Amino acid sequence: MVETAGAAEVSAKVTVRPMQLTDVPAVYKIEKASFATPWTIDIFEREITENTFANYFVIESDGVIAGYCGMWLVIDEAQITNIAILPSFRGQKLGEKLFAHVMEQAIMAGAYRLSLEVRVTNVPAQHLYRKFGLVPGGIRKNYYTDNQEDAIVMWVNL
Ligand SMILES: CC(C)(COP(=O)(O)OP(=O)(O)OC[C@H]1O[C@@H](n2cnc3c(N)ncnc32)[C@H](O)[C@@H]1OP(=O)(O)O)[C@@H](O)C(=O)NCCC(=O)NCCS
Repeated sequence: MVETAGAAEVSAKVTVRPMQLTDVPAVYKIEKASFATPWTIDIFEREITENTFANYFVIESDGVIAGYCGMWLVIDEAQITNIAILPSFRGQKLGEKLFAHVMEQAIMAGAYRLSLEVRVTNVPAQHLYRKFGLVPGGIRKNYYTDNQEDAIVMWVNL
């Protein structure tokens, strides 16, 4: 069981769809609320308009963008760039639903492996990834520039 961080109630109408350029301001709000060194608006815009490897998705609850997830698909390998749920929507299975959708997209695209990096202290995210079969595969020392925290590389065969 996960604690609910805030007041937002998840409606029965939850959908996942590809991220559009017009979603970027809402996604940037989620990004700022979720990470110590958030990506800029410009980075998101370039990911969507210029990066042919990039696949980004948003999850909506009753039309409100509550989270997003990005994945790079390079030939047959998938790498998760970011996943975040708005704090007030956390603990209500939206992250799980979004991650399941993105993983399904990777499988449909023919990827044979999915991997990502996660902070050693980010226990909620590690638990989420383990639910999908990801296991630790190595450590990247001092990976995060804000506090030199190590990253755990987690991966799963699809
Ligand atoms: C990680 C994150 C995306 C999870 O999203 P969420 O919608 O809150 O998660 P869900 O409600 O879908 O929970 C799914 C599973 O994740 C794990 N989990 C989620 N929150 C957790 C918590 N506070 N403590 C421990 N495990 C947690 C559990 O395994 C949970 O399954 P369970 O409820 O059966 O135990 C969210 O906490 C978040 O946005 N964090 C900030 C951004 C971030 O750290 N992203 C990952 C970068 S690598």
